[in-house]
Amino acid sequence: MRVCVVGTGYVGLVTGACLAKVGHQVQCVDVRPEVVEAINAGRSPIVEPGLDDILKAGVAEGHFRASLSLQEGMEGAEIVLVAVGTPTTKGDIDLRYVREAAEGIGRTLAGSSAYRVVTVKSTVVPGTTDGLVRTSLETTSGRKAGQFGLCMNPEFLREGCAVEDFLEPDRIVIGQWDERSGDTLAKMYSPFSCPVVRTGLRNAELIKYTANALLASMISFSNQIAMICESLDGVDVDEVFTGVHLDRRLSPVVDGRRVHPGLLAYLKAGAGYGGSCFPKDVLALRQFAQECGVPAPLLEAVMAVNRSRASHLADLVEEPLGGAEGKKVAVLGLTFKPFTDDLRESPALAAVEELLRRGAVVRAYDPEVPPGRTDPHLPSGLELFPNAIDAVREAQAVVLATAWPEFLGLDWGAVCAAMPRPVIVDGRNALKEVQWPHGALYRPIGRRTEV
Ligand code: UDX
Repeated sequence: MRVCVVGTGYVGLVTGACLAKVGHQVQCVDVRPEVVEAINAGRSPIVEPGLDDILKAGVAEGHFRASLSLQEGMEGAEIVLVAVGTPTTKGDIDLRYVREAAEGIGRTLAGSSAYRVVTVKSTVVPGTTDGLVRTSLETTSGRKAGQFGLCMNPEFLREGCAVEDFLEPDRIVIGQWDERSGDTLAKMYSPFSCPVVRTGLRNAELIKYTANALLASMISFSNQIAMICESLDGVDVDEVFTGVHLDRRLSPVVDGRRVHPGLLAYLKAGAGYGGSCFPKDVLALRQFAQECGVPAPLLEAVMAVNRSRASHLADLVEEPLGGAEGKKVAVLGLTFKPFTDDLRESPALAAVEELLRRGAVVRAYDPEVPPGRTDPHLPSGLELFPNAIDAVREAQAVVLATAWPEFLGLDWGAVCAAMPRPVIVDGRNALKEVQWPHGALYRPIGRRTEV
């Protein structure tokens, strides 16, 4: 099938390249000339394992190309996927780009009588697809929904394994305006074998928010329990959750063997959630609930617990040092999770900012954030180092903020030797197996430690 993808951000690019890989003819459209040029030269403008290869192959085989022109991109396309950003502006979801894309698509629809299915992939609050999107399409095209198709098809791609998540999906959700719309989109997904949920547009929109809010809630729930654990003697949050995880309803026994679902990774205490989705989606859902006149104390609490993680990490540093003012603190890991270079809403950066605010001298190392990297998310005053040992040299405390595997394998004896009186705050509870040298103070999350 011919497919047009509007927006070559993270979701659009991965979706487009993967659809080309399974045999569709894909045209991506973007307003950024440098991105269009890179794609057509077979280069991925974003870092994502496996993406470069499938993108290169798609371009070389003529299945995948990018264009600056929506008209050109939509040429012959049966499906038009809207994958533009939905940022948060002043706490509210900003639908400007979705509206602009819908208006542009509508103008193009006006020029032909072909049946095309406009599909929203961007994360939007319930009512957006059959409201703002449909109205914009109808007004600019002069046609009614039904004369063109309309679907809402959320994405569930995790950064770092987005290609794998797309090619081996656990489910495909198709929210449809009518049967014909859904049937056409289902045809695009026919190369994939997984359950397909055919439902209404608003259900599809809410499925995405509910899925992410649930995962974020599990993280905040774990951190709430961690705070209780820290107030008690002889309690360790990881041991508590080991006991909880072994409930067969959480980790079933199949053919006599215990299965450990990926979901359990979110029932773990740490530095909190971040990234481009969870914080934005929980906030948007809370705002949406408010607009519906529905109190959302649970979502409020999920966000409040997450916000408190940065100051909690700073407290763990500050207590043994007797204050943070003028103290050198090394932070290991800056990205919002390992295996990505993404710094958006990173809990590690929230901790850095809090430490800087308290007057600490903060130095950091992250494998994806070399000295000299410029990024608007990096706070001024943060000094970047090319390796962990240089970052920790002469530091009074070190904070493990993102659990990159190389930190687990660090020579912690050498790290401690490079510090006058080592204090190690383990924001990810990833270093519990380390044999700490005499005199080192190890402070994990969710276990009381004397200072
Ligand atoms: C998420 C959803 O998982 C995906 O389905 C959705 O469509 C997009 O948003 P992503 O933001 O890439 O994907 O990250 P994910 O791996 O789910 O992690 C989100 C946050 O949870 C990160 O801050 C991460 O550090 C945190 N997290 C994740 C944990 O704290 N513990 C974990 O075990 C896993």
